[in-house]
Amino acid sequence: MTESRDAELFAAAEAIRAKAYAPYSKFHVGAAILADDGKVYSGCNIENAAYPQGNCAEASAIAAMIAGGAKKIRRIYVTGPGVAPVTPCGGCRQRIREFAETLDITVISHGVDGAPLETTLAALLPHSFGPEYLGK
Ligand code: THU
Repeated sequence: MTESRDAELFAAAEAIRAKAYAPYSKFHVGAAILADDGKVYSGCNIENAAYPQGNCAEASAIAAMIAGGAKKIRRIYVTGPGVAPVTPCGGCRQRIREFAETLDITVISHGVDGAPLETTLAALLPHSFGPEYLGK
């Protein structure tokens, strides 16, 4: 059961969040993916003095997953500061869409001083465009 791995995903997201490079926003984010190979891949946000060149934590985690040889996201857990759930930005919803095992994968967004919000990719990105539109 994927749910049973949420403690592991939370721990991985929090461990890598501590390494975030976010000197401008000071908003440190971690993301942990449970991939189709059963392994956990994680990433943090990496900002840049040229602001648009920054990477979100989700993008970093996807890069780690692909580099590690996995192909699909089975579940993803995002952690950040504060009480409000740290939900993926619009661009990252589309990035997750590219690699999601199904449209129904669970996305957990957690501002660690509050409660986690558990939702699905389909709810976060309805009527989405994806690889199958291009024959993939
Ligand atoms: N950020 C993420 O890494 N993921 C999210 O889900 C929300 C926002 C980062 C981008 C930027 O480095 C900082 O948080 C503030 O927006």
